[in-house]
Amino acid sequence: MDIIKRLAGMLAPYKKRVFLALSLQLLVILSGLIAPFITKDIINLVIPSLDLGMLAPLCGWLLLLVAIRSVSTYSRSLILERVSQNLVYDLRTGLYQHLQELPYGFFDKFRIGEILSRMTSDIEGVRNLIAGGMVTVFNNLLNFVGALIFLSFMSWELTLSLLIFAPIIGVVAWQFNKRIRPVFRDIREQNAVLNTRTTEDLSGMRVVKAFAREKHESERFSKENLRLLELNLKATWIWSDFVPLMEFLSGLCTPVMLLVGGILLVQGNLDLGTLIAVNGYVWLIINPMRALSGIINMVAQAVTSAEKLFYYMDFGSEIKEPEQPKTPEKFEGHVVFDHVTFSYGGEDVLKDISFEALPGQTIAVMGATGTGKSTLVTLLGRFYDIQKGSIKVDGIDIREQALKPLRRSLGYVMQETFLFSDTLTDNIRFGRPDAEMEKVERAAQVAQAKEFIGKMPHGYETIVGERGVGLSGGQKQRVSIARAVLTEPSILIMDDSTSAVDMETEYEIQQELKEVLKGRTTFIIAHRISSVKNADQILVLDDGRIAERGTHHELLAKKGIYYGMVQDQYRDFEKYAAGKAGEA
Ligand SMILES: Nc1ncnc2c1ncn2[C@@H]1O[C@H](COP(=O)(O)OP(=O)(O)O)[C@@H](O)[C@H]1O
Ligand SMILES: [Mg+2]
Repeated sequence: MDIIKRLAGMLAPYKKRVFLALSLQLLVILSGLIAPFITKDIINLVIPSLDLGMLAPLCGWLLLLVAIRSVSTYSRSLILERVSQNLVYDLRTGLYQHLQELPYGFFDKFRIGEILSRMTSDIEGVRNLIAGGMVTVFNNLLNFVGALIFLSFMSWELTLSLLIFAPIIGVVAWQFNKRIRPVFRDIREQNAVLNTRTTEDLSGMRVVKAFAREKHESERFSKENLRLLELNLKATWIWSDFVPLMEFLSGLCTPVMLLVGGILLVQGNLDLGTLIAVNGYVWLIINPMRALSGIINMVAQAVTSAEKLFYYMDFGSEIKEPEQPKTPEKFEGHVVFDHVTFSYGGEDVLKDISFEALPGQTIAVMGATGTGKSTLVTLLGRFYDIQKGSIKVDGIDIREQALKPLRRSLGYVMQETFLFSDTLTDNIRFGRPDAEMEKVERAAQVAQAKEFIGKMPHGYETIVGERGVGLSGGQKQRVSIARAVLTEPSILIMDDSTSAVDMETEYEIQQELKEVLKGRTTFIIAHRISSVKNADQILVLDDGRIAERGTHHELLAKKGIYYGMVQDQYRDFEKYAAGKAGEA
């Protein structure tokens, strides 16, 4: 019920038009209700008196009613189609805007395929209700009630004899609704599962092929598809149990009416014209009963869809801007982590992390995979809230800051590079869409991307595919470095972002960065000692804690984890060098 109310609420902006459409529909219904009255007069008055002079005007009235019906129906459906399409537009835009505001946590929880289902088929389900369902409900309800009222004026005995069926039909309909709703819900869910499988398989197609897992993936898909088939069939079975029962119950109306009507006629309590007119009303009563299953079906589907849509819409962002957001006067890149503890919901991923980065410093974060390096830098943009401690950027706790300016002051080069299906230029200036071409080129230069872009078929105007198909891993990384550099962030975060770039290029990128990032803070997550050894401070993470910290030389002197890493890398290097010497 709440859901229906909310849906009705969404119609508020279209109130006038919906009202107009329903008024037109009322005309249609009224004209249908009046017609049997005229039929009755034709039979009771014209036929016995054989007065053809009366026949023509009565038929004229009937004709007028038909005309009113047609015109009203046409205009009503035009209006409601438009309203429903507009509503779909509102819903989709609203949902999309809402999705943009949702935190990382939401996207950890819901898969793309599922979200796509909501954006398409669930919204369509709601549209069906507005475009067709609403009128069907209105129509049948008013026809039913109206016919009963008109009928009761003609013969209360007949009305009562037909009303006997109403409670039985009500109970049957209720049962049907109860059985079919959960199945529809499962169908929606399964649709989402299937969509998720499809989107993931398609975007991971290269992996599927590389591991020759096509058959396995097809089978997995078939399994989910089969489940959808089963659910759809289940709904069909429930439906086909119910339809004949409804047909039977509504079919009983005519014989009952003829039986009671016949007796009344023979007893002289009813005239023939009335009996025939009553027959016209019986259909107005029977049809809504027969349509009931279809109505319940449609409403149940729309309600389950709307339920899911509203669930998404209500998915609040737990990351809220403070009432009075503060913004530092100047973003300088002064970062303080003070006893920060964080978990994604399970075990603590970061434990009691404290450090300070002064403006202009380079902080390197090292450690084995899964020790929390990426998590640590993600916290800077407040994509997740921490459980204990505080993070300050330029003197203000990030939970007290306005979110957008904070995030704009950061330049992220994410560990997983993602490029949009767009030109290289537009990918690079994603964070500053109005940046001049000069700046784009400068950023590309810094990221050492200028040379390979120059060799592309259309240079900067080359469109790189979804996920940057057509570029090598190192090239994609360089484009995403350029994208971050272009925003001139006060804090640049490079999460393993030169892992696919050779050492020499990496060195050049670092040299260039030094120039452009003068006075800005940089966080570098890397595995190569060469990438981090010039950092002002190196943090070595181990199992979510800072195990060691200091400069390259300080850490070497400690002879701890860092020293071990240096030794390992140096040994590999020596082996490599020895191999080269052996070849020569
Ligand atoms: N979005 C997430 N939801 C839940 N757990 C996560 C998420 N991202 C990372 N983790 C977990 O947090 C730990 C640290 O991950 P991460 O910060 O990516 O490590 P690193 O970058 O050092 O390899 C890992 O155990 C990982 O499984
Ligand atoms: Mg990582």
